[in-house]
Amino acid sequence: MFDRFVPKGAVLETGKTMTEEKIVVLDFGGQYSQLIARRIRDAHVFCEILPHDAELSRIIVPGLKGIVFTGGPDSVYADDAPRCDPGVFSAGVPILGICYGMHLLSAELGGSVGAARKSEFGRTDMKITEAHPLFSGFGESTIVWMNHNDVVLALPKGFRTLAETESCPYAAAADDSRRFYMVQYHPEVHHSVLGTTLIRNFLFNICGCTGDWKMGQLADKLIAEIREKAGDKKVLSALSGGVDSSVASVLVHKAIGDRLTCIFVDHGLLRKNEAREVMQFYRESLGLKIIMVDASERFLSKLSGVTDPERKRKIIGEEFIRVFEEEAKKIGAVDYLVQGTIYPDVIESGGSKKAAVIKSHHNVGGLPENIDFKGFIEPLRPLFKDEVRELGEALGIPRHLVWRQPFPGPGLAVRVLGEITPEKLRMVRESDAILREEVALAGLEQDIWQYFTVFPNVRTVGVMGDGRTYDNLIAIRAVTSTDAMTVEFAELPWPVLRKISERIVNEVDGVNRVVFDITSKPPGTIEWE
Ligand code: XMP
Repeated sequence: MFDRFVPKGAVLETGKTMTEEKIVVLDFGGQYSQLIARRIRDAHVFCEILPHDAELSRIIVPGLKGIVFTGGPDSVYADDAPRCDPGVFSAGVPILGICYGMHLLSAELGGSVGAARKSEFGRTDMKITEAHPLFSGFGESTIVWMNHNDVVLALPKGFRTLAETESCPYAAAADDSRRFYMVQYHPEVHHSVLGTTLIRNFLFNICGCTGDWKMGQLADKLIAEIREKAGDKKVLSALSGGVDSSVASVLVHKAIGDRLTCIFVDHGLLRKNEAREVMQFYRESLGLKIIMVDASERFLSKLSGVTDPERKRKIIGEEFIRVFEEEAKKIGAVDYLVQGTIYPDVIESGGSKKAAVIKSHHNVGGLPENIDFKGFIEPLRPLFKDEVRELGEALGIPRHLVWRQPFPGPGLAVRVLGEITPEKLRMVRESDAILREEVALAGLEQDIWQYFTVFPNVRTVGVMGDGRTYDNLIAIRAVTSTDAMTVEFAELPWPVLRKISERIVNEVDGVNRVVFDITSKPPGTIEWE
């Protein structure tokens, strides 16, 4: 993905050339493909994900140190099973096949694959049967995460077994002379104990990587790609006030300077005082050219009477694009739109071929089809949130902005359940401001990934003074996470919760009850809609 817009040997801002070491991950449709890439980047090795059927010329490039085949949902013997260019096998670099990647490697090299006697899903004991650099640092057994129906039934010639489980005789195997390796389990997922160690062993013991890649180099690379793609065109950026769009815009600003115009849309669904604070940040701290558009009335009228969460998201996504198109026309000949789309947005909008749509994040799944721009610049698409923050710091963005809690593009629309009205927005806004104030007072801002209030659209009976009330419910959502893909509810101290609850009921007109959401993700999502 990264090399598409980068001429080979291009000189970067740092003066380095683009021939740094690199691992290519060939994606066979696995749920965890980006996690593999992420683990590799965490080991300070640059890696690029390419589709399984990428042309050889994109895969075999200067600096290539190894290839990883990801898992995937198919059976390798199915008619339309994904394969790769067979030239990959003679690239002369080590290959690691994971799950489906293992099956493909076996099938292509003369082994056989078939249905397992017993499918394995979840945590599984694995016995390491032979010491090998791939398993350096492992004992005799370990716990791995399995997720498969098929297994290798016979290894291709030249391979020997390195590990087994109760129902999988070839849980890991190696052909050292050709430097081909395969594992049936998923070392990239957190539940595989020593999974990261296995990936690092592949990178350092087998591929001979040095691990000297840094986020700053990714910034250089992304800036060079943006410069190449944008050419001398004008670019418009959709700033939301969140970290993703800020980092994306700063990258583009570094690439093309004032040919970037940023637009901040107040869609009427922002938090209390947000528009003012955000504009101040961007102008003063980041030096961006920025226009604010007050489109609150038009968003709220489009949303009037709409209750379905997906409809709301689509309407907001569409309206955003229309506002941008209109602003773009005023600026004249704008070709590209910058968006801060990050990987979890892509995967949960069904962006990967096989992944299910959980909700349409407005910058991905909710886009209308007739868009008036030549294209999008989405430099953060392969990254996870914490990597975006690291990148933001490498770019010199102030810490208070980089560490702002995430705020969704559709804003409070996904926090007011059912129909949105100004009155409900007032209640969620006021209660949210109290929550944020109290979390800050308790010094907990850095410990919680996200914290906000929700308007569940439920009225309950209460008693205040001597009278009966029949008023609205407010829910508090607070979660801890590293990447928003999985979260735990945050264990806010009781005294803090008590104070927040008392203040909300006392200070926000129309609210008589407060509840605390104790759902993790999965099964819940962070936002309620
Ligand atoms: P969920 O609710 O899917 O949220 O668990 C995961 C993370 O994404 C944020 N979020 C969005 N961000 N546009 C965005 O830019 C959206 O449409 C959107 N929906 C959810 C959410 O706040 C959380 O950080």
